[in-house]
Amino acid sequence: MPKRIPHTDFEVLTGKNTAEEYLEMQKRLGKFYLKGFLNELMAQNRKGKYLEIGPGPGFQTAIIAENNPESEITAVELSANMINIATRYIEEKGLSDKVHFVEGSVEDESLIQNLGKFDLIYTSFSLHHWKNPVNSIRILYNALNDDGLLFIYDFGRNWLAYLPLERGIRESIRASYTPKEIESMIKELHVENYQIKKRFPYISLFVRK
Ligand SMILES: C[S@@+](CC[C@H](N)C(=O)[O-])C[C@H]1O[C@@H](n2cnc3c(N)ncnc32)[C@H](O)[C@@H]1O
Repeated sequence: MPKRIPHTDFEVLTGKNTAEEYLEMQKRLGKFYLKGFLNELMAQNRKGKYLEIGPGPGFQTAIIAENNPESEITAVELSANMINIATRYIEEKGLSDKVHFVEGSVEDESLIQNLGKFDLIYTSFSLHHWKNPVNSIRILYNALNDDGLLFIYDFGRNWLAYLPLERGIRESIRASYTPKEIESMIKELHVENYQIKKRFPYISLFVRK
């Protein structure tokens, strides 16, 4: 199993050009790499208040908003450039009344607390960027309402990290966690109602209140 190597090019990932390029990549490839995530999310059939962490330029946010017209989405994103691009994209899709972006970090407990409680909290391909994932999962768990669901989707670290893949993808896989590591994060939190699903090369974590 390759050793975990945290992301080093975070500034590059969140720069203005990169945010635009990321949206273009999502438009080209989103239906492939986000398919499993969107299928899992839709299958949960949750309505109400959603919290998305790390929406990036908002491609999947728009799909989720379109498919869940009764729900409203608050999306917390670290990068102001991503938020600018995402805001424009959501406007173009006519979804501005459904999605509200907040600049900030999942690691900021008071920010997340002040947003209220949520029926569904989800994130795709963002976990591997978080500095302290155990604490972030705890913060998100506390933001669930009594019947709420937390759904985290990411790469699992695996042998693909040894291949000369496009740089960003290889870095992301190297920075991501194995199912065992995710399980030990959850054990640290003493949360009992959880499920980890593996679907190579991705991992889904569901945590229920
Ligand atoms: C690889 S992109 C994923 C974007 C999109 N969710 C997707 O599935 O393609 C990761 C996103 O998470 C954001 N992010 C990273 N760390 C974060 C944090 N601590 N709090 C909120 N957003 C974060 C990054 O700025 C970036 O937009």
